[in-house]
Amino acid sequence: MPGICTIRSGDSASKVGLPGLPHHYRLWELALKTVVFSNQKGGVGKSTLAVLFAHWLMDKQGMRVAFVDLDAQANSTKTLSRTAAERQAMELFSDEPLALPSLAPLPASERACLLFAGGKALADLELMRPERVIPAFRAQLARLAPCVDWTVIDTPPALGLRMSAALIAADEVVCPIELEEYSIDAVTDMLKTVFGVQRRYNPGLHLAGILANRFNARSARQKSALHELVSRYSEFVVPAVISTRAAIPEALAARRPVWSLPKTSAREASLEIVKAFELLLARMAGAAPGADEVVP
Ligand SMILES: Nc1ncnc2c1ncn2[C@@H]1O[C@H](COP(=O)(O)OP(=O)(O)O)[C@@H](O)[C@H]1O
Ligand SMILES: [Mg+2]
Repeated sequence: MPGICTIRSGDSASKVGLPGLPHHYRLWELALKTVVFSNQKGGVGKSTLAVLFAHWLMDKQGMRVAFVDLDAQANSTKTLSRTAAERQAMELFSDEPLALPSLAPLPASERACLLFAGGKALADLELMRPERVIPAFRAQLARLAPCVDWTVIDTPPALGLRMSAALIAADEVVCPIELEEYSIDAVTDMLKTVFGVQRRYNPGLHLAGILANRFNARSARQKSALHELVSRYSEFVVPAVISTRAAIPEALAARRPVWSLPKTSAREASLEIVKAFELLLARMAGAAPGADEVVP
């Protein structure tokens, strides 16, 4: 894939090399990042990619991670709860300051994140006063700082209070999309939301990238949608695609990251995912690999 990563010399992040990139990133300079996976459309891969990103930070980068599942359906929670020390995401909207155990670095074999579980009670938040619960959420996330290096937030598929709270509290937003009919319209809506929040409430919010998921290179329709996306929003598109791969839901159903499945199809999926995550990290670090050509 041409033009994968152009790192400007002098960038704070362009120092030392992450596997697969020409230079390593100083991950500790990126530490204490809060990343939200967001798109008002359902079924585009928010939960899947948020869970895999959290695993990737823990397994491959040795980071301590808090995972916040803001979806009442709690799909991410189901996938992560086997290994995670569990709290309720609802606690993060309370004025009562969180009491937290310190999360010491764990050996790789016991890698676990601090999970704030999703659940049906979260739906009630949509009826609460935003001016009370949104600042409370932001303050609670700030309290996680001594315990974790990264916070990953999965959001519900709606432009509601929980998505606003996540965007207002976050440093980075990743927007997974599926290249189907109307997906460009959905991207436009999502960008309006992200930049609206950035302008009004959170100037520190950065769009890490739009990430095409469940891509089918044999579909002419998807390829043309990808071309259109890149021609409209080139500067925001991560120059990578994640194909539809059965190994991805299979691994998550087994509550494992896809790179731990010993199968060829899982290895192929892992290569794409790891490449996409490395590019996302590069963009979060201030280097902006262009997406002039992402069509396989
Ligand atoms: N690249 C992929 N290949 C195959 N299946 C995928 C892929 N990404 C997501 N899925 C599946 O698609 C469905 C929707 O994904 P999910 O992450 O739950 O979307 P969202 O959180 O945006 O609603 C899930 O069953 C998930 O396992
Ligand atoms: Mg989801």
